[in-house]
Amino acid sequence: MNNSFVIKGNICQTKNPSALDLHENGYAVCVEGVSKGVFDVLPEEYKSLSLYDYGDALIFPGMVDLHLHAPQYAFRGMCMDLELMEWLNRYTFPEEEKYESLEYANLAYGMFASAIKHSATSRCSIFATRHRYATELLMELMEQSGLVSYVGKVNMDREASEGLVEKSADISAYTTFGWINATKDKFKNTRPILTPRFIPCCTDALMEQLREIQMAYGIPVQSHLSESKGEIEFVKSLRPDNLFYGDVYNEYDLFGKNDDINTDVKTVMAHCVWSSDAEVELMRKNGVFIAHCPSSNMNLTSGIAPIRKYLDLGLNIGLGTDVAAGQSISMFRAITDAIQVSKMYFRMVDEAYKPLVFSEAFYLATKGGGAFFGKVGSFDEGYEFDAVVMDDSMLSHPQPLTLSERMERAVYLGLDEKGIVAKFVSGNKIF
Ligand code: GUN
Ligand code: FE
Repeated sequence: MNNSFVIKGNICQTKNPSALDLHENGYAVCVEGVSKGVFDVLPEEYKSLSLYDYGDALIFPGMVDLHLHAPQYAFRGMCMDLELMEWLNRYTFPEEEKYESLEYANLAYGMFASAIKHSATSRCSIFATRHRYATELLMELMEQSGLVSYVGKVNMDREASEGLVEKSADISAYTTFGWINATKDKFKNTRPILTPRFIPCCTDALMEQLREIQMAYGIPVQSHLSESKGEIEFVKSLRPDNLFYGDVYNEYDLFGKNDDINTDVKTVMAHCVWSSDAEVELMRKNGVFIAHCPSSNMNLTSGIAPIRKYLDLGLNIGLGTDVAAGQSISMFRAITDAIQVSKMYFRMVDEAYKPLVFSEAFYLATKGGGAFFGKVGSFDEGYEFDAVVMDDSMLSHPQPLTLSERMERAVYLGLDEKGIVAKFVSGNKIF
């Protein structure tokens, strides 16, 4: 497949959080899947490459969804009136039990994979369920989608429904070994990620085994952290000797870099709404990524993560939809939700923390989360070439608009749900 080409259109991105980088009728050049940069005049050396001329379309970098649950896509937009722990028990665990059936998994994951393929997302980090074979099926479907993803078989050996909980730490670990061995070299774009659901669902014995599995395979880690008050109280009661919630993951070397034992475990933690100063400092020191999931935090009444504070401290931050606690797989919606909740935080909680502006939230959704995947999230030279091409002509307007106005309203008005005309991932045109 030829993945050296030029695309032409109105290119919109953020090189850094504080400013938009806009090129009307610009050229984005891709050579062997890697960006050569954006040009207002096409350099001579690229004139022989094939050209996709998208006319007046908008071209954004692909979005990076750092946290979502594929099995929960089936009940998106429902069951929204409970807080986290009750929501899990009442709705989520019963739905996830169904993935014991490969027939159900095939139907449900097929719908999920098709939806995310056609969204603005080019990369994502996904929770499956604790079922090995359904997770492998999801990985096959994600590979077929053309997206680049991490997919995790969930580990959970306590505090879940009889039909979902794994019967012992040994069984959970054994299944995880089998799953990693079967998938780690199987796909080009789909890789396994270690996925302890969260501390309430993982015994000490299981965490100990996950430490060993991580060390044996060197794979990244994803989980949930300090999402809701009820959850945090529960973790305190389960682990009274740990200094804070994140300290439990850290005790098992599943929390980013650890200079003491010279390890660097790439880690993403969803939420971090209620992280203490000590927890935040450890995330900073260890380079742990935060997946900020504002829609989920509103729906489950979890709270508002102080993202301005985390940005000021220089933490690694991306955005997540957290489907189905977040109702939509739209990353454009995650961008606007992130801005809106930051405004409420500023007004209602602490005026020391200024609201996010559009360029900052767009940056989080692209380059911010993209760093979890390497050089991802922009058309800067050397970045992997992920692009979304959109036609905004159906969003009618009587007045002339600047390109920055078109970019902003494309996001606020959800153009990713109706206006995507083409998408490239790592230089492959997936539609
Ligand atoms: N914490 C543990 N499991 C889950 C989940 O499925 N969704 C959310 N939002 N938080 C969790
Ligand atoms: Fe989640």
